[in-house]
Amino acid sequence: MATSRAAAARLEGETAAAARIVWSEERERFETDDKVAYLDYEVKDGGKVMDILHTYVPPSKRGLGLANHLCRAAFSHAQSRSMTIIPTCSYVSETFLPRNPTWKTLVVQSEDLKSSM
Ligand code: COA
Repeated sequence: MATSRAAAARLEGETAAAARIVWSEERERFETDDKVAYLDYEVKDGGKVMDILHTYVPPSKRGLGLANHLCRAAFSHAQSRSMTIIPTCSYVSETFLPRNPTWKTLVVQSEDLKSSM
Protein backbone atom coordinates (compact mmCIF):
# COMPACT_ATOMS: atom_id res chain seq x y z
CA MET A 1 0.00 0.00 0.00
CA ALA A 2 1.39 3.42 -0.94
CA THR A 3 1.99 5.80 1.95
CA SER A 4 1.06 9.42 1.23
CA ARG A 5 3.82 12.03 1.45
CA ALA A 6 1.97 13.81 4.28
CA ALA A 7 1.65 10.59 6.29
CA ALA A 8 5.34 9.81 5.70
CA ALA A 9 6.34 13.31 6.85
CA ARG A 10 4.15 12.93 9.94
CA LEU A 11 5.81 9.61 10.74
CA GLU A 12 9.26 11.15 10.38
CA GLY A 13 8.19 14.00 12.67
CA GLU A 14 7.03 11.54 15.30
CA THR A 15 10.34 9.72 15.05
CA ALA A 16 12.19 12.99 15.66
CA ALA A 17 9.97 13.85 18.61
CA ALA A 18 10.63 10.44 20.13
CA ALA A 19 14.39 10.57 19.57
CA ARG A 20 16.22 9.81 22.77
CA ILE A 21 19.02 12.24 23.54
CA VAL A 22 22.01 10.90 25.44
CA TRP A 23 24.57 12.97 27.36
CA SER A 24 28.23 12.02 27.04
CA GLU A 25 30.07 13.92 29.77
CA GLU A 26 33.57 12.85 28.76
CA ARG A 27 33.05 13.85 25.10
CA GLU A 28 31.15 17.04 26.04
CA ARG A 29 28.37 16.03 23.69
CA PHE A 30 24.62 15.44 23.53
CA GLU A 31 23.71 12.93 20.85
CA THR A 32 20.87 10.80 19.59
CA ASP A 33 21.13 7.23 20.84
CA ASP A 34 22.14 6.13 17.32
CA LYS A 35 24.91 8.80 17.57
CA VAL A 36 24.24 10.24 14.10
CA ALA A 37 23.09 13.67 15.32
CA TYR A 38 24.92 15.59 18.01
CA LEU A 39 25.65 18.85 19.78
CA ASP A 40 29.19 19.57 20.95
CA TYR A 41 30.01 21.97 23.76
CA GLU A 42 32.89 23.03 25.95
CA VAL A 43 32.67 23.75 29.66
CA LYS A 44 34.37 27.00 30.65
CA ASP A 45 34.93 29.24 33.66
CA GLY A 46 35.36 26.37 36.13
CA GLY A 47 32.11 24.68 35.14
CA LYS A 48 29.91 27.77 35.19
CA VAL A 49 29.58 28.22 31.44
CA MET A 50 28.59 25.89 28.58
CA ASP A 51 29.86 27.11 25.21
CA ILE A 52 27.76 25.37 22.52
CA LEU A 53 30.20 25.00 19.65
CA HIS A 54 28.52 22.92 16.99
CA THR A 55 25.28 21.11 16.18
CA TYR A 56 25.10 18.45 13.48
CA VAL A 57 22.20 16.50 11.98
CA PRO A 58 22.79 14.28 8.91
CA PRO A 59 21.15 15.54 5.70
CA SER A 60 18.60 12.70 5.62
CA LYS A 61 17.22 13.75 9.03
CA ARG A 62 17.21 17.54 8.71
CA GLY A 63 14.13 19.69 9.11
CA LEU A 64 12.48 17.32 11.61
CA GLY A 65 13.38 19.22 14.77
CA LEU A 66 16.27 17.01 15.85
CA ALA A 67 18.63 19.96 16.39
CA ASN A 68 15.87 21.59 18.44
CA HIS A 69 15.69 18.48 20.65
CA LEU A 70 19.46 18.47 21.10
CA CYS A 71 19.43 22.14 22.11
CA ARG A 72 16.60 21.61 24.57
CA ALA A 73 18.58 18.81 26.20
CA ALA A 74 21.69 21.01 26.44
CA PHE A 75 19.80 24.04 27.76
CA SER A 76 17.88 21.94 30.34
CA HIS A 77 21.15 20.38 31.45
CA ALA A 78 22.78 23.81 31.83
CA GLN A 79 19.76 25.19 33.67
CA SER A 80 19.71 22.28 36.14
CA ARG A 81 23.36 23.02 36.96
CA SER A 82 22.94 26.81 37.11
CA MET A 83 25.24 27.22 34.11
CA THR A 84 25.03 30.01 31.56
CA ILE A 85 25.40 29.43 27.82
CA ILE A 86 27.53 30.93 25.06
CA PRO A 87 25.70 30.33 21.75
CA THR A 88 28.74 30.01 19.47
CA CYS A 89 26.87 27.64 17.13
CA SER A 90 24.85 29.60 14.56
CA TYR A 91 21.91 27.20 14.81
CA VAL A 92 21.59 28.13 18.49
CA SER A 93 21.94 31.90 18.01
CA GLU A 94 20.05 32.28 14.73
CA THR A 95 17.34 29.62 14.92
CA PHE A 96 16.91 27.94 18.32
CA LEU A 97 16.93 31.08 20.51
CA PRO A 98 14.69 33.24 18.27
CA ARG A 99 12.19 30.34 18.15
CA ASN A 100 12.48 29.53 21.85
CA PRO A 101 13.02 32.96 23.46
CA THR A 102 12.36 31.79 27.03
CA TRP A 103 15.77 30.06 26.93
CA LYS A 104 17.50 33.42 26.34
CA THR A 105 17.64 33.92 30.12
CA LEU A 106 20.54 31.42 30.21
CA VAL A 107 22.62 33.19 27.58
CA VAL A 108 25.78 34.95 28.73
CA GLN A 109 25.54 38.70 28.23
CA SER A 110 28.48 40.30 26.39
CA GLU A 111 29.41 42.41 29.49
CA ASP A 112 29.69 39.16 31.51
CA LEU A 113 31.99 37.73 28.84
CA LYS A 114 34.27 40.78 28.91
CA SER A 115 34.57 40.70 32.68
CA SER A 116 35.50 36.99 32.68
CA MET A 117 38.25 37.45 30.06
N1 COA B 1 22.45 28.09 11.16
C1 COA B 1 21.27 28.49 11.68
N2 COA B 1 20.08 27.91 11.38
C2 COA B 1 20.10 26.89 10.49
C3 COA B 1 21.30 26.43 9.92
C4 COA B 1 22.52 27.07 10.29
N3 COA B 1 23.71 26.69 9.79
N4 COA B 1 21.00 25.39 9.08
C5 COA B 1 19.66 25.23 9.12
N5 COA B 1 19.12 26.12 9.98
C6 COA B 1 17.70 26.29 10.31
C7 COA B 1 16.88 26.25 9.05
O1 COA B 1 16.57 27.59 8.74
C8 COA B 1 15.64 25.44 9.44
O2 COA B 1 14.53 26.30 9.39
P1 COA B 1 13.10 25.79 8.86
O3 COA B 1 12.52 24.99 9.98
O4 COA B 1 12.36 27.06 8.63
O5 COA B 1 13.38 25.00 7.63
C9 COA B 1 15.86 24.98 10.87
O6 COA B 1 17.29 25.17 11.09
C10 COA B 1 15.49 23.52 11.07
O7 COA B 1 15.44 23.27 12.46
P2 COA B 1 15.65 21.80 13.01
O8 COA B 1 14.77 20.84 12.27
O9 COA B 1 15.52 21.85 14.50
O10 COA B 1 17.17 21.56 12.63
P3 COA B 1 17.82 20.26 11.94
O11 COA B 1 17.54 19.07 12.77
O12 COA B 1 17.45 20.24 10.52
O13 COA B 1 19.40 20.61 12.07
C11 COA B 1 21.43 21.80 11.58
C12 COA B 1 19.90 21.91 11.79
C13 COA B 1 21.98 23.22 11.42
C14 COA B 1 22.06 21.20 12.83
C15 COA B 1 21.72 20.92 10.33
O14 COA B 1 21.19 21.57 9.19
C16 COA B 1 23.21 20.67 10.12
O15 COA B 1 23.77 19.74 10.70
N6 COA B 1 23.88 21.49 9.29
C17 COA B 1 25.31 21.32 9.02
C18 COA B 1 26.13 21.74 10.23
C19 COA B 1 25.84 23.18 10.64
O16 COA B 1 25.79 24.09 9.83
N7 COA B 1 25.65 23.37 11.98
C20 COA B 1 25.29 24.68 12.54
C21 COA B 1 26.48 25.53 12.77
S1 COA B 1 27.51 24.89 14.06
